Amino acid sequence: MPEQRLRPRVWVSQPLFDDVLDRLRAHFEVFVQPEVTMHTPRQVAAALAPVDGALLTLNERVGAEEIAAASRLRAVANVGVGYDNLDIPALAAAGIVATNTPDVLTETTADFGFALMMAAARRITESERWLREGRWSQWSFENMLGSDLHDSTLGILGMGRIGQAIARRARGFDMRLLYHNRMRLPAEVEGRLDAQYCDLDTLLAQSDHLVLVVPYSSTTHHLIDAKALAKMKPTATLVNISRGGIVDELALARALSEGRLAAAGLDVFEGEPSVRPELLALRNVVLTPHIASASLATRRAMMSLAVDNLIAALGCGPRAGCPPNPIRV
Ligand code: DGY
Repeated sequence: MPEQRLRPRVWVSQPLFDDVLDRLRAHFEVFVQPEVTMHTPRQVAAALAPVDGALLTLNERVGAEEIAAASRLRAVANVGVGYDNLDIPALAAAGIVATNTPDVLTETTADFGFALMMAAARRITESERWLREGRWSQWSFENMLGSDLHDSTLGILGMGRIGQAIARRARGFDMRLLYHNRMRLPAEVEGRLDAQYCDLDTLLAQSDHLVLVVPYSSTTHHLIDAKALAKMKPTATLVNISRGGIVDELALARALSEGRLAAAGLDVFEGEPSVRPELLALRNVVLTPHIASASLATRRAMMSLAVDNLIAALGCGPRAGCPPNPIRV
């Protein structure tokens, strides 16, 4: 079928829901990775070489080397709001449009951040493990004492869409809200959220619960290191739903094991999918496998938006040439 061959080719790096995939198939010749795979840089380069577009996840790192042989590649659509897996300047220099999927995952991710904070502060997973081990012999005043969310101070590091969605939830818990962000929010937004801006040191020192929602970059790499952790209250909870590299995990494990920090909830890890043994060995950390956006509806919305982006970026569909979410250099 000669017209089939003229269709742009697209690589999809892991299986999508069938109906979402069908929307891509309506426009392109689609090559789907049949199962979830941790692709090596060489495999990514080989997959990108013959295609016009790609739909990727954070499992694929794409930079100058991976696109060196991809002479036809015009667009990559990342499924996710974070895009630290993409070297945006290198893609832009090669004339490749990159897109991401903001907004659609904001509320689900904020829900999960809150869940992780509650689980860590109130020792939910730890006490469940203890119960399942058959260690519950009687009720006692001192068993599994945690720290309250209500009337406590919540610190949010990174006050973008997800940070603000967490802030909205905090109001329902009567929490005092502090935040630090690259740019201070307009006074009207601060007022609506009842959020008080402060510098990073104040945020670290005053938060009873601190949630990290900053994008990962060379500037935020190990932003929460031993020195930062030393500024936090020993009774505090730390939650990371952003990227693992923002936290020095060894320093965190030490602080948690030495009682210099009460608890942590981590959904992201520096070397994921592997998790440091120092963290796995601790009882006072809740560990989840990067699932903050993993509700059925939201994962569908993320895939679907990435498909919209790719269709438009490759010059098809109603928004041809104008993808909804281009990433600017
Ligand atoms: C995101 O959207 O960045 C999530 O971490 C999943 O990739």
